[in-house]
Amino acid sequence: MFIYSLLTFALAAIPSALSQSSDPTVLVGTWSSGSGAVVTGQFANPANMTFNYPLTAGVGFAFSDDGYYELARYRFNSNGSQPACITGVLQWSHGKYVVETNGSLTLHPLGDGFQQVQDPCAAESNFIEDYNITELFDHFQLFQDPTDGPKLHLFEFDGTPVAPLFQLYSTPNMLPTEKLRNVSSVLDPSTSNLLALNNNGARSWTPSGVVSLVGSVFAVGLSTLFY
Ligand SMILES: *[C@@H]1O[C@H](CO)[C@@H](O)[C@H](O)[C@H]1NC(C)=O
Ligand SMILES: *[C@@H]1O[C@H](CO)[C@@H](O)[C@H](O)[C@H]1NC(C)=O
Ligand SMILES: *[C@@H]1O[C@H](CO)[C@@H](O)[C@H](O)[C@H]1NC(C)=O
Ligand SMILES: *[C@@H]1O[C@H](CO)[C@@H](O)[C@H](O)[C@H]1NC(C)=O
Repeated sequence: MFIYSLLTFALAAIPSALSQSSDPTVLVGTWSSGSGAVVTGQFANPANMTFNYPLTAGVGFAFSDDGYYELARYRFNSNGSQPACITGVLQWSHGKYVVETNGSLTLHPLGDGFQQVQDPCAAESNFIEDYNITELFDHFQLFQDPTDGPKLHLFEFDGTPVAPLFQLYSTPNMLPTEKLRNVSSVLDPSTSNLLALNNNGARSWTPSGVVSLVGSVFAVGLSTLFY
């Protein structure tokens, strides 16, 4: 179970004004959830497959007017049957987006995305792997919040809302929109495509480090984003 799925409902404040649009230009800008700690363009270093760890969890998107996107995610997933086994995931990807005529949003990655997974309870507790998933969002809505300004709500393919995104900048903050690292070949998703663990310069988190970090996030309060 993802903790955020409960919280996003609580976080989705009643909007003052609302527009639903299939106009791609409304997406242009830099967006981030919650306290705005997870920001595209500064989240990942694709060349050496490392992340610049944000202070708090969240999700960030950027969309350009020429059809490019970048996404950044830092989230914790809990496991109801094993409450101590909270998994931390950092994800980065970029590529081209399409607003479909039916109002859905599709993200087509360039193939150089990657993710880091930390699972204190797994045999392999910390690894980095390619992340090259085409993502479909069922629809999106744009709100004009009187105090926070533009707010973007994305809904996953199954209708699950993503934490509300606030506009940090009206322009896209993104890394260069080309392949930023060599990905040797098309990976077979049926086989584990793990890359060299802790050997590629990635910072290594010990399981206890993950737990204490998670603990401090809890201490900040559950209103902190768990997307
Ligand atoms: C939770 O942990 C159990 C036991 O390790 C595992 O079988 C199950 O797939 C996990 N669930 C999720 C959602 O990760
Ligand atoms: C909208 O169009 C996209 C792209 O063609 C498709 O993948 C998606 O299933 C469609 N959504 C609905 C609700 O029909
Ligand atoms: C990434 O995914 C796309 C779409 O499935 C595919 O065309 C492309 O070959 C993939 N790239 C890599 C490097 O696996
Ligand atoms: C990875 O690349 C970034 C950006 O160039 C750099 O700041 C960082 O020190 C590098 N990290 C490692 C472990 O090489």
